[in-house]
Amino acid sequence: MISLSGKIALVTGSTRGIGKATAYKLAEAGATVIVTGRSEDRAKEVAKEIAGNTKANTYGVGLDIGSKESIEEALRKINEEVGSVDILVNNAGVNRDTLFIRMKYEDWDEIIRVNLTGTFLVTQLVVKGMLKKRWGRVINMSSVVAFIGNVGQANYSAAKAGLVGFTKTLAKELAPRNITVNAIAPGFIETDMTENLPEEIKQGFLSQIPMNRFGTAEDVANVVLFIASDLSSYMTGEVIHVNGGLF
Ligand code: NAI
Repeated sequence: MISLSGKIALVTGSTRGIGKATAYKLAEAGATVIVTGRSEDRAKEVAKEIAGNTKANTYGVGLDIGSKESIEEALRKINEEVGSVDILVNNAGVNRDTLFIRMKYEDWDEIIRVNLTGTFLVTQLVVKGMLKKRWGRVINMSSVVAFIGNVGQANYSAAKAGLVGFTKTLAKELAPRNITVNAIAPGFIETDMTENLPEEIKQGFLSQIPMNRFGTAEDVANVVLFIASDLSSYMTGEVIHVNGGLF
């Protein structure tokens, strides 16, 4: 049985999808969990729901990873009201798909800014506390498309590949302080992000997945739990693929 009792976990974008499933897993393992999202009200609602179902301590905080001010304000609040974060799951992410030839500067800039720069900003503030504690886990949500590409996702796949380089460099810089930094690369997971894709695109993906099913948010959350725990103590700079054999 994995226990995260005494640990404080922050999951970005945890009001739905993979982030919410992750917040549940960490709470079930006994961590104090900070649920965050662009809407503080929604974050508080989900935090309350998780506390009710798991008996864990939870907090809901507004944190928009697309805004430097929001990130700074949220981390100030978290440090004051909860404490310094031990486990950071950089889960929040967005896509704005369009063929490269039609991609506008704004489509590119927004996706790099939110997915990559936002993760940099949150991580830098959180790692300061981990350095003092000489213990920490940083888990970055990349994607299989960072490795295989995907039509219409030049911006998103570049940001997700950027997270892999970021993970590997941070792993080397932070290893001496007992902070591990790893990434997860989910394949096709059934969440709001993939819900509205045209049926023929979904079937095209499905035909390439040897396990013949899409992943669930819980499939990914289980791997986050493993990385967050002491079972992964000697693993850093790694990317774990969770894709049913797609890649
Ligand atoms: P989702 O769309 O259901 O959830 C994304 C979460 O991020 C939501 O809670 C949303 O509110 C939050 N978010 C978006 N922009 C934000 C911002 N500016 N500030 C704070 N939070 C923000 O998507 P899903 O599928 O749960 O995605 C979670 C992560 O997994 C994302 O980073 C996504 O790129 C990644 N991923 C998802 C895959 C899938 O097939 N669903 C595959 C590979 C990676």
